[in-house]
Amino acid sequence: MNPAKQYPLSVSLIHWLVAIAIVGNLAIGWMLDDSMELMALHKSIGALILALATVRLVNLLARRKSLPPSLNAKGSLSHIAEKTVHGLLYLGMIAIPVLGWLKTNAAGHDVNVFGLFAIPAVIEKNRPLAHLLGNLHATFALAFAGVLGLHVLGALAHCRNKSKSIFLRILPIRTRRSLS
Ligand code: HEM
Ligand code: HEM
Repeated sequence: MNPAKQYPLSVSLIHWLVAIAIVGNLAIGWMLDDSMELMALHKSIGALILALATVRLVNLLARRKSLPPSLNAKGSLSHIAEKTVHGLLYLGMIAIPVLGWLKTNAAGHDVNVFGLFAIPAVIEKNRPLAHLLGNLHATFALAFAGVLGLHVLGALAHCRNKSKSIFLRILPIRTRRSLS
């Protein structure tokens, strides 16, 4: 069987959905100030990201045999960098919302999702812990933005150096063009 040339549609769709949600939530996070409305929106989008990231991980594992091979030679430095960056992005997609969730519980609140339902608290109120978790959440979010920058630069470097087709591999459109 020939190797796949594009990511499965489900993988590409979730990639861009989560990308828009995360970039939006980073921006909202840095604009929070004391706005209750923005905070509620930030928590709701964050909970959605956690759900989508979980579906994404499960879907990726289920579709692992239909993924296109990496454009970087196995064992090369760029291959190791690519896999490390993808791993860190997955870690951030899960860890950042979980830290935000725990911080909210430790501050004495449930997480309300778009006013529809509340996710029950998993830890009890604890002010010093809330402070620590809030700091960790903020630090992870900042580090995630840096790793995301590397991810985008890596993709752009492929366009310049080797292949114009890297975006076609992950866009949710199917192409008959031969991808190099
Ligand atoms: C929070 C935002 C993002 C996350 C978490 C993310 C994560 C990932 C991950 C984990 C992959 C590997 C495929 C998969 O497992 O889904 C991937 C592939 C890709 N991403 Fe992103 N991404 C984000 C945003 C972006 C942006 C903004 C761009 C471009 C401007 C981009 C361009 C690409 C490209 C071109 C690929 C395909 C790489 C290949 O063919 O091997 N991503 N992304
Ligand atoms: C991927 C999803 C998320 C991203 C990218 C994100 C990002 C951010 C950012 C950038 C900040 C500002 C940090 C700073 O002060 O510099 C922030 C603050 C905050 N976020 Fe999130 N967040 C996400 C999910 C969540 C979730 C799911 C919750 C709660 C359920 C949450 C609760 C909070 C809280 C309570 C703060 C204020 C922290 C504090 O000042 O101690 N976040 N977030």
